[in-house]
Parts: sequence; C-alpha cells; structure tokens
Amino acid sequence: MGASPLPDRSVCAGTAGRLEVKRVEKLFGANRAVDGVSFTAEPGRITGLIGPNGAGKTTLFNAIAGDIPIDAGEVLLDGTRIDSFPSYKVFEKGLARTFQIPRPFARMTVLENVMLAPSGQHGERFWNTWLRPGLVARQEKEIFERARAIIEFCGLSPVERQLAGAISGGQQKLVELARVLMADPRIILLDEPGAGVNPALLDTIVDRIVELNRRGLTFLIIEHNMDFVMSLCDAVVVMATGKVIARGTPDSVTAAPQVIEAYLGGAVE
Ligand SMILES: Nc1ncnc2c1ncn2[C@@H]1O[C@H](COP(=O)(O)OP(=O)(O)OP(=O)(O)O)[C@@H](O)[C@H]1O
Ligand SMILES: [Mg+2]
Repeated sequence: MGASPLPDRSVCAGTAGRLEVKRVEKLFGANRAVDGVSFTAEPGRITGLIGPNGAGKTTLFNAIAGDIPIDAGEVLLDGTRIDSFPSYKVFEKGLARTFQIPRPFARMTVLENVMLAPSGQHGERFWNTWLRPGLVARQEKEIFERARAIIEFCGLSPVERQLAGAISGGQQKLVELARVLMADPRIILLDEPGAGVNPALLDTIVDRIVELNRRGLTFLIIEHNMDFVMSLCDAVVVMATGKVIARGTPDSVTAAPQVIEAYLGGAVE
C-alpha cells in the first residue's frame, strides 16, 4: 500500500468532530421516541450509545444525521447548528453515518459500492464531463485508487470483486465503513457495527475503529455487545424510553442501578 488515503489527524486530534445534542425531541404520534436528550460526543473520542431495544437510539441517529426532522432541541457540529440541515448537508459538514441494516447495492461489487460513495466527485457534473474529460478521467483514477486503498485498510481486498449482496453480513458492515471513509468525515456514527458479526471479523472492525480514532476521527457508536463497548468506548451514554438515564465511563454506567433496572425491565417485557 502506498501513501495512506486516510488523513493522519493526530496533529490536530481533539479539535474537530464535536457533536452537541441539546434537549432533542422526536415524536411519532404520541410516542416520545426521543424525549429531551442532551449529551456531547467529545472530539477525538469514541462515545458509546447504549440502551434496551426501542430506547430511541436509531431514531436519535436519524435525527442527528438529518434523515428525519426533530420536533425540538438543537444539534451542533463543531459549534454550527445542523438540526435544520437535510442529510446531504450534514454529510458535507463532515458527519457520516452507517445504518443498522447495511444497505449495499447488492448487485454491484464491493469495489463499485465503495467507488460510488459520495466523495465530491466532479465527474457527475455535466459540464465537467463535456468540457474537461481529462479532469474526469484523472478523478476517476483517483477515486479508484482511493477506494482500493480504503478497501485494503478495511481488510476487504480478498472480496473486492465479489457482489456486495453475496458477502457476509459482517463484511457488509465493513463495506459501509469503507463507503463513509471515502468522504473523509470528521465524525462517524455507527449503528450496531457488531450485530451479527462473527468474532474474528468483530476483532477487525474494532481494530479499524481504534486505528481511525488514533488518526483523529471521532465516533459515536450504538452497540448492544457490551464487550465491544467496554473495549472501545471512552464514554458511554445510556438511553431508555427516549431519555438519557446515565452517562459516564463504561464501568460506571454498567454498574448504575437505573441502567441495570432498564435492561432487566426490557428483558422481561
Ligand atoms: N418511523 C417510525 N415511525 C413510528 N415509530 C417509530 C419509527 N421509528 C421508530 N419508531 C419507534 O420509536 C421508538 C424508538 O425506536 P428506535 O428504533 O429508535 O429504538 P432503538 O433504541 O434503536 O432500538 P434497537 O436497539 O432495537 O435498534 C420505538 O418505540 C419505535 O417503535
Ligand atoms: Mg436501533
């Protein structure tokens, strides 16, 4: 592998990717799916977002990423309010997210999926294609090389020519990560990166997240696998029935009585 396509932000780690969620509400009819949630994902950190099924975690991700409008509250990225932005604008500001259920283009190869990820490619613009074919060819080559380097970084080189619909669920999670890396985000929101992933691949995912974080990328991660949360997260926010019920270090939140109760309550529902 030649020069890394991923920025080494270690020099500026801790300065970008600060996500502030303030009193955010999202209602579905009478269901207060997100009910006055406030917390900060600190730049350069890996923050975990945990809680029982139906707690509102994915809804909160959708709201932060601009996929659904919020009913109240504010979301700030590096001090700029993004809560009225559509998802593409949130993405342009440097916040990228993956989905709980991977959404690859199943009949395209892994490489094509990663190459197609939005990355500010000029080739799509009509005038550029018509007037500046040399530029477009050069950019396509750059995109190809960048995609292949990111695929290698994610450990997907052995399957890069396979159809994305034919690889394992865990590999599809890595394809999602590779796709968001194409855009060079400042903060990545991962929705259950470890769900349904075999232990060997889970180690790869954890390892890649750690390496990206070392290079300065901020993460906010929804995850049910507590080993994953404990080994990876600097801070944890716990949600239940739309509200934040605890936050702190992984050790402190998992020992908190209200957290234990929320999980036990969920288990006997
Ligand atoms: N599009 C929607 N329309 C109506 N209700 C919804 C919608 N999406 C989510 N909900 C409801 O909002 C609540 C929170 O759901 P959400 O999917 O955010 O939970 P979650 O914490 O991500 O759960 P899980 O751990 O199972 O993924 C649930 O009561 C759910 O039924
Ligand atoms: Mg969810």
